[in-house]
Amino acid sequence: MADTIEVSLWRGKADGGYRTYRVPLRPNQTVLDVVTWVQRNADPALAYRFACRVGMCGSCAMTVNGRPRWTCRTHTSKVVKDGRLEIGPLANLPIIKDLVCDMRAFFEKWQKAKGAFAPSKGRGDPIERIAPASAPRLAADAAIECINCGVCYAACDTVRWNEAYLGPAALNRAWTLVNDTRDGGNAARLAAVSADGGCHACHTHQSCQQHCPKALNPTASIAGLKRRSVQAYIRGEL
Ligand code: SF4
Ligand code: SF4
Ligand code: FES
Repeated sequence: MADTIEVSLWRGKADGGYRTYRVPLRPNQTVLDVVTWVQRNADPALAYRFACRVGMCGSCAMTVNGRPRWTCRTHTSKVVKDGRLEIGPLANLPIIKDLVCDMRAFFEKWQKAKGAFAPSKGRGDPIERIAPASAPRLAADAAIECINCGVCYAACDTVRWNEAYLGPAALNRAWTLVNDTRDGGNAARLAAVSADGGCHACHTHQSCQQHCPKALNPTASIAGLKRRSVQAYIRGEL
């Protein structure tokens, strides 16, 4: 087995290009380890982003051999092809520099989808008990473990061709709140997610579900929003 691999890393902005390095192979090495080795040993000016290195923070996502992935939990041995790795920034977001893209549009869409909890009670009210096995709680649980990595957003063709589309992560987040019985913001939230660029723009081709490193299913969440918004429309609430 070769003791090095050829690694091409994106350098520069959108008009940049790939630069190639030889990187030593190590046991249990992750793709993030490969990028870090280049930055520490071959090219200190390389820009990339990470924080936790344990699959919690969502900041290390990149395009690896053509596919969006979290790099701190992706072993090199699983993705290296013919002794090569090609690593670029996430798709569907502007490049700031090298492997770092600008996540502003991604998070602004969370705000547009009303992805923040809207309390329905005040400080003095008793704390409500949510039955762990209730249907809304189970629906929220199934979608709650999102780490905001942007992998699904980069994998979504609808995001690519429709700039206004809120995208799988923001809509998945909205679905968790629609099912949060303590939340009081659902009228505004359903109006936001059923407007142009909302849940009805999803084409249900499930790239988001196939690529999500946390094994979430944003397509199912979006289908829930479609159902819930149509019900609200029929009741005259939208
Ligand atoms: S199912 Fe919808 S959100 Fe998911 S990748 Fe396809 S269009 Fe995008
Ligand atoms: S839904 Fe999955 S892929 Fe999308 S941002 Fe959340 S964790 Fe990442
Ligand atoms: S560095 Fe935090 S998820 Fe990869």
